[in-house]
Amino acid sequence: QEMFTLGEMVTATQSCPDELLELLGEHLNYTVKVVSPEEEDKKLLAQFGIDLEENEGEQESRPPVVTVMGHVDHGKTKLLDAIRHTNIVDGEAGGITQHIGAYQVHVEHAGTDRAVTFIDTPGHEAFTAMRARGANVTDIVVLVVAANDGVMPQTIEALNHAKAAGAPVVVAVNKTDLPEANPDKVRQQLTEYGLVAEEYGGETMFVNVAAKPRIGIDNLLEAIILTNDAALDLKAPVKGNAQGVAIEAHLDRGRGPVASVLVQKGTLRVGDSIVAGGAHGRVRAMLDESGNRIKEATPSRPVQVQGLTAVPSAGDVFLAADDDRTVRQIAEQRQARRRAAQQAARAGRTTLENFMDK
Ligand code: GTP
Ligand code: MG
Repeated sequence: QEMFTLGEMVTATQSCPDELLELLGEHLNYTVKVVSPEEEDKKLLAQFGIDLEENEGEQESRPPVVTVMGHVDHGKTKLLDAIRHTNIVDGEAGGITQHIGAYQVHVEHAGTDRAVTFIDTPGHEAFTAMRARGANVTDIVVLVVAANDGVMPQTIEALNHAKAAGAPVVVAVNKTDLPEANPDKVRQQLTEYGLVAEEYGGETMFVNVAAKPRIGIDNLLEAIILTNDAALDLKAPVKGNAQGVAIEAHLDRGRGPVASVLVQKGTLRVGDSIVAGGAHGRVRAMLDESGNRIKEATPSRPVQVQGLTAVPSAGDVFLAADDDRTVRQIAEQRQARRRAAQQAARAGRTTLENFMDK
């Protein structure tokens, strides 16, 4: 009824936007504060003395996290295959990379060994989740555009993600081995979207590649390193409890819940107590992208973690804490909150009382 006087036609069971609730509260002389799940979680972690934003400790350089994006079939995975083959000493990485979706390679640049972390995104739900949370895992975006196909809808979508994340873009013009390839047309098309190639007087690096016959791969890696060195000064604390993002997770028949995580701060070690979303546990084993067991992982390192009690969701923040009890309590409280939210959703409406903060 009160809603009606505010000029809104709503029924008692209809859910309504947060702003409207706040307005209604004002009208009724209540202070209505709509608390986002993120804020609630922040409060929960604060109870345990954890602040995700905190960035204390000695900052050290970390490798860039490079996300490969682009229109379907333009060759993202093939490009990553080419890069991996070129750089992983022991050649073919086992089944792990397919699950992990992220892996680190080493590039030789100016006589030094440089690590670069790549994330493959095709239809990757994890990626959407990460974006939605605004988790800034991406430092650089490699936009793959097939030279025979040109700029397509998902090319633009990918570009918008890159812009939203504030990440510099390196364009990989792929499939240049095909007779119908027109790499210059790709450059021309992308100027319309604000990506002007260096050779056209702009600031964006475009690199012609052909992933299948593995042409131009080194040039692309060089462009990534140059972009990193020119535009970014990536640092993270290496000491302290690890923190990062779950990129992907699944239930493995033999190993139980397995999560691919990207460490963003601190060092993750075997034996650490961790929580990711509503899942918690102790790191029983960590595998790198080649399936090798590793004991610790520092910032920008993607690893597969075993030992969680449940499968976290892609995009969930993970963190290590000092003891099992802390991570269990955080996980339990999150689970309880999730159940409550689900119940409310099942009831078909969100009661106004939930939002009242008298
Ligand atoms: P989604 O993950 O589905 O978005 O696709 P993608 O972008 O990962 O493409 P993918 O790497 O699977 O390649 C799609 C097809 O293009 C495959 O058949 C590749 O072999 C082929 N392909 C990729 N790169 C090249 C290239 O440089 N030249 C030629 N001729 N074919 C390529
Ligand atoms: Mg793919």
